Amino acid sequence: MSESSLDGSRRGFLRAMTAAAGALLAPSASVALTPPSTPKLPSGVNPKNFIIHGVNPLTIETRRSLMGMSAITPEARFFVRNNLPLPSPQIVERPDTWVLEVKGVKQPTAISVAELKGLGLDAVGAVIQCTGNGRAFFEHEPAGSKWGVGAAGCAIWTGVRLKTLFDHFGGVDAGMNFLTATGGEIIPEGMEHNDLVVERSIPIKKALDDTILAWEMNGAPIPLLHGGPLRLIVPGYFGCNNIKYVKTLTCAPQESEAKIQKTGYRLRPIGAPPGPDYPSMWRMPVKSWVNGPGADNTPALAGEVTFYGVALSGERGVKKVEVSLDMGKTWQDATLEDLDLGPNAWRVFSYTVNLPKGPHTIVSRATDTQGDIQPKERVENERGYAHNGWLDAALTVNLLGEPPEEKVAATDQHMVKEESTPPERESVSLSAEGQAGKQVYLESQPSCGACHTLKDAGSEGLIGPNLNELKPNAESVKNAVTNGVGAMPAYNDLMTKEQINSLATYIEEATK
Ligand code: HEC
Repeated sequence: MSESSLDGSRRGFLRAMTAAAGALLAPSASVALTPPSTPKLPSGVNPKNFIIHGVNPLTIETRRSLMGMSAITPEARFFVRNNLPLPSPQIVERPDTWVLEVKGVKQPTAISVAELKGLGLDAVGAVIQCTGNGRAFFEHEPAGSKWGVGAAGCAIWTGVRLKTLFDHFGGVDAGMNFLTATGGEIIPEGMEHNDLVVERSIPIKKALDDTILAWEMNGAPIPLLHGGPLRLIVPGYFGCNNIKYVKTLTCAPQESEAKIQKTGYRLRPIGAPPGPDYPSMWRMPVKSWVNGPGADNTPALAGEVTFYGVALSGERGVKKVEVSLDMGKTWQDATLEDLDLGPNAWRVFSYTVNLPKGPHTIVSRATDTQGDIQPKERVENERGYAHNGWLDAALTVNLLGEPPEEKVAATDQHMVKEESTPPERESVSLSAEGQAGKQVYLESQPSCGACHTLKDAGSEGLIGPNLNELKPNAESVKNAVTNGVGAMPAYNDLMTKEQINSLATYIEEATK
């Protein structure tokens, strides 16, 4: 490829990204003149409730100390994980006008939410849990947000069953084995559709058994952050399958060719390259954890202590939860609280015990209705998916002898500090390898800067996380670049190992 054609294609690519992201991808020279419009937390998100892993795509984790004692998670504390930038807020302004396409049924159709509401009504209590919830506990630094326990929430979702919808249009065509749902995120022109599209397939049986298309979350229209106007709710399945902003439903003989279905969201061994034959992340295995009191160093008093947590098992529900205060040497039965929203919701459990002041560590272990017992250890896997080991989720609390003094102001300051962006760096000093990596960053195809903001490189892409804010370490850059992550393409066939290593060094040095 000649120099100029390479240039030309890159410009075309950048133009496409600019148009789609609605963002200014300024060439580096003008950076100083036009400060980048750094994406902000969407209005309505209270940063005190969340650990902010990324603003774009939005990835916010519920603080453990704010995971409540109720079976329902209020929207204000419900985690968010998006694969691409949020669609325009306009789509939830008049939710009834949102139109869904239905394919692979006897009478393929387009139908508005207003019309959907006339077909039937169903509600399900269901946990949405990010497939990577618990990734922070894996030791091999998997690419992706480092979620602790808080990428999960439970809500009541109201909508219409897919079976009702499909029956209304003559039923599913013969020979259809999968249901594919496609999200309504904007795919930048000129980008490979299947690389970026948020699209997942589930077995058609699951779709017809209990899957719903929901327009309400906890009794209110689903807000944009949680997939409104229309979200697919696949009860008991991992979050990635619960497609937001559903635009198209397709019954098909085969699974989707989209990257996040074909090779993404599959359980593969550490070090193995992505492939289509590993198990897809569908049903959530049995899991529980204790949320309080005393998480995040919030004050908790010695004496009679009531610990509380949540337990789930996709499609099955739990029948028992035990807790241990000696790291699993002995177990005591916890109490399952009465409110039971069905086999796909979580159950709150509690355990009351008398404890002296000082540090205590508590773990919990759930057993589901089919007898599966939550394991002690996580299942190691490349992407850090499906964490359900009880050991890593242990909660250590420091019980106080007497009530703490009022320290509200200090806590507030702390929170505000976390929220604010780090001070600007004048310049960064790069090693020789870092210099080489900067070239790789600038010349890669597709260009890293088309999707990422990195001050030192003068790039202001808005599709992926801001690298100055993310400050990834070298290992996670290598993992992301080698295999791709989410909507980011893999570069292992496009770059040498040396190039990837120098790129990792560069990004680490440039964002320190
Ligand atoms: C087409 C857009 C796109 C391009 C091009 C792209 N990325 Fe990304 N990148 C993303 C998105 C989106 C994410 C967030 C993925 C997620 O969490 O789902 C991401 C995530 C990352 C992460 C964070 C991984 C983690 O551990 O959370 C790093 C580091 C990264 N990219 C580096 C790069 C580098 C270096 C390049 C160039 C070689 C590059 N990206 C090219 C879109 C892109």
